[in-house]
Amino acid sequence: MFGGKGGLGKTTFSAATAYYLAKMGKKVLVFSVDPQASLSDIFKQDIFGKGATEIMPNLYAQEIDADRRVKEYQQEIRQKIFDMYGFDKIPEEIESYIQAAGAEPAMEESAIFDEVVDIVVKGGYDYYIYDLVPLGHALYYLSMASVYDAWIDKITGLRQQMREYDQVAAVIKREESEMDEDAILNELLYIKERINKSSGILTDKAKTAFFFVVTPEEMIIKDTQKAAELFAKFDVPLSGYVVNRVLPPELKEQNIPEYLKNRMAMQTHYLDLINETFKGDIRAFVPEMERDVTGLPMIEKMAKAMFGDF
Ligand SMILES: Nc1ncnc2c1ncn2[C@@H]1O[C@H](COP(=O)(O)OP(=O)(O)OP(=O)(O)O)[C@@H](O)[C@H]1O
Ligand SMILES: [Mg+2]
Repeated sequence: MFGGKGGLGKTTFSAATAYYLAKMGKKVLVFSVDPQASLSDIFKQDIFGKGATEIMPNLYAQEIDADRRVKEYQQEIRQKIFDMYGFDKIPEEIESYIQAAGAEPAMEESAIFDEVVDIVVKGGYDYYIYDLVPLGHALYYLSMASVYDAWIDKITGLRQQMREYDQVAAVIKREESEMDEDAILNELLYIKERINKSSGILTDKAKTAFFFVVTPEEMIIKDTQKAAELFAKFDVPLSGYVVNRVLPPELKEQNIPEYLKNRMAMQTHYLDLINETFKGDIRAFVPEMERDVTGLPMIEKMAKAMFGDF
């Protein structure tokens, strides 16, 4: 996973890392929940909401369309109501409830979360690269697992209690004490198992690496430091920092304008601060390129800057 403040290079590093691993012969899926479709931009191919799409051999990319997922959800709920209660039409009050729930931001979050769980639990790739949305949000997704888990525990417990009462009542009334399978309880247990499995993967240091992208600027360094402390609280396994947009030091030897000299002196100062602040956890320094990173040739160039020649 690549995380960090907005616009620092998360999508760029995600795509370049995926490219590198694919070239090393690993099957890779790079995915994002970003409604801005930035993977489509960087690969110059419209993949939004189209499922895992092959970009080149071994390299697949996927952009989750949360809106569509919410609509599918609403349809699933209607279907469950049909199946469980045998209505032939959804009663109006229930339909308006379903509509209102679909407009809830929480519904979108949970649709996204659900799809990420799907991707991670399903398997089929050697590596998954999760191109995260900017910081605060990412933290929210990651914390979702523990919030959901606690919530589902509670509901499952209640449901089990209700079942026990039902059984007792059935015995008293000398009814058949063998009950049907409890569809709701099973559904809850199924959700719980999925959450445990995916949050188990996302917080396992042997399986998941989380990198912060940082640039040599004062505010960015400060905010990243604060964010790292927060992430640690959610057991996100922090694997280090990648420093982006470093002006190539060889420029110094050239005859460069005063303006650029000043920029470089400023960067040197903040690079020292980065070295001091993140000490042994810096994984790479990546240069500022001559242009935006879009298209496979630029992605390859970025991958070589990150991982060395291959
Ligand atoms: N080292 C670099 N050299 C040149 N351009 C870069 C470099 N790193 C990133 N960029 C450019 O900066 C822009 C922002 O990068 P990117 O989209 O990867 O950021 P992000 O962290 O994913 O942003 P967001 O928070 O919006 O998702 C892009 O246009 C990208 O091509
Ligand atoms: Mg991005």
